[in-house]
Amino acid sequence: MRTIIEPFKIKTVEPVRLTTPAEREANLREAGYNVFLLRAEDVLIDLLTDSGTSAMSAEQWAAVMRGDESYAGSRSWYRFEAAVGDIFGFRHVLPTHQGRAAERILFSILCAPGDVVPNNTHFDTTRANVEAAGATAVDFVIAEGRIPSARHPFKGNMDVARLRALVAEVGRERIPLCMLTVTNNSGGGQPVSMANVREVSAVCREHGIPLYIDACRFAENAYFIKLREEGYADRTPIDIARELFSYADGCTMSAKKDGMANIGGFLATNDDELARRQRNLLILTEGFPTYGGLAGRDLEAIAVGLHEALDEDYLLYRITSTTYLGEHVSRAGVPIVQPPGGHAVYLDASAIFPQIPALELPGQALVVELYREAGIRAVEIGTVMFGRRDPATGDESPAAMELVRLAIPRRVYTQSHIDYVVEGILNVWDRREAVRGYAFVEQAAVLRHFTARFAPM
Ligand code: F0G
Repeated sequence: MRTIIEPFKIKTVEPVRLTTPAEREANLREAGYNVFLLRAEDVLIDLLTDSGTSAMSAEQWAAVMRGDESYAGSRSWYRFEAAVGDIFGFRHVLPTHQGRAAERILFSILCAPGDVVPNNTHFDTTRANVEAAGATAVDFVIAEGRIPSARHPFKGNMDVARLRALVAEVGRERIPLCMLTVTNNSGGGQPVSMANVREVSAVCREHGIPLYIDACRFAENAYFIKLREEGYADRTPIDIARELFSYADGCTMSAKKDGMANIGGFLATNDDELARRQRNLLILTEGFPTYGGLAGRDLEAIAVGLHEALDEDYLLYRITSTTYLGEHVSRAGVPIVQPPGGHAVYLDASAIFPQIPALELPGQALVVELYREAGIRAVEIGTVMFGRRDPATGDESPAAMELVRLAIPRRVYTQSHIDYVVEGILNVWDRREAVRGYAFVEQAAVLRHFTARFAPM
C-alpha cells in the first residue's frame, strides 16, 4: 500500500468551532493583531506550537492513573528515571516543569558575565536564559541553514570552522559549554547529522568544553538521520538516539515535544559535581529532585511518551504529514524553508510579501492573514521575535529571516485538517499583493512577541 495513514484510531474527540469572517476581524482587533492574545476557542486549527499540545495515547492515560504522588522517591520517579536512562544514557537526570527551567538551572550555574555560548541556533528561551546569566549566545548554523530556499539534508548542522574560530578568538575559559539543538527549531526544524554531532563533540572534547544537546525533538532528528544519512537506514530510531547522546555530556529537554506530554522536561548530565549543584538549585525553585515541579502522573506520561515518540510507524506518519503540507503549498509556488522540517513548515514571509520591508513585519502580516482567512493560528519567527530594539534610541534592527511557522501538534489533526490548512495558505497566496505591513503599538523589553500589540500600517 502506498497510502501512509495515521497509525492510530480516535478514542476521544474535542470539538473545534468555525468562526465567521466578522468574528475573526473583531477578535484580531481586540487582540492587538497578536495571535498569542486570542482565545484558543476562537481558533479553528491551532498551529501556534507543537509544544504541550500532543494527544496522549491510551497507554499514557493508563499510566497517568498509576501516578504515585509521594513527595519523595515515588514509583513514578523511578519509571521516569529508567525511561530517560534507557534512551539518553546520562548519569544524572533532574525533572523540571518544562524545558526552560532546565535551561535556567544549567546556564545560571555554568555561565558568568563575559562568557560565550555557541549553538546551531538558540531557541528564544534558550537565548534569553543564556543572556539572563550575563553570557552571549552565538548561532553557528551552516550557511545553507540561513537561506530558506537552499536544500540540504542536514540544514541544522553547526559550522564547525566557526566553532573552532570562536575557541581561538575568545579562549576555552570563556566558553562554559556548547549546545546543539536537535532538530534546529528556529532554523526551520531542520535536523543535525550524526557526522556533525560527532565532529562538534570532537572539537569540544579536544578543548574540554562540555557539549549539551537541546533534545526537544530528538526522535524526529533520529528519524531524519535514518532517512538521510548513510549507514543508518537499518538502525532503529532508539539506537540512533542513543548514539547521538553518547557524544554529549548532557542535555536539556522539553517533554512537551518528543516526550508526547502536555507538561514537563528535564536536565541530564554526566558531571557528578554539576549535578549536585543543579539539584540544590532545583530544590530552591522547582521541587524535590524526584519530582522537580511535576506531579507523579506527569512523570508517568513522559516515561511512556518518550518511547512512543521513537516508534517507527508513528515517525513515518509524523514526518510524512509535515512534508505533505510543505510540498503542497510549495508546489503551488509558496516560498517555504526547504525542505519541510520535522515538526513544522516554515513559510518565507519576506518572499511572499516582497512589498513589505522587514521593519514593517511581513511575518506578522502573514500570521494575521492566516487567521483572517481560515481561523488558522501560526507564529511569527522573524523581526517580532528576534529583531532588536536599541533601548537608548528605540532603533529597530531586523531579524536574519522573516519566517512564519506552522507547527503541527503530535497526533492531533487528521489529513483533512492538513488539506484545509493547504487551502487556507493558497487563498492568502492568491491575494498576497494587497497585503500591507504592521507597526508595534506596545512592546515589552524581553520576549516581546508574547505580549506586543500591533496596528496595521
Ligand atoms: N528549546 C527548543 C528548541 C524549543 O523549541 C523550546 C520550546 C524550548 C527549548 C523550551 O522548552 O517551552 O518546555 O520551556 N519551544 C516551544 C515552541 C515553546 O513553540 O517551539 P519549554
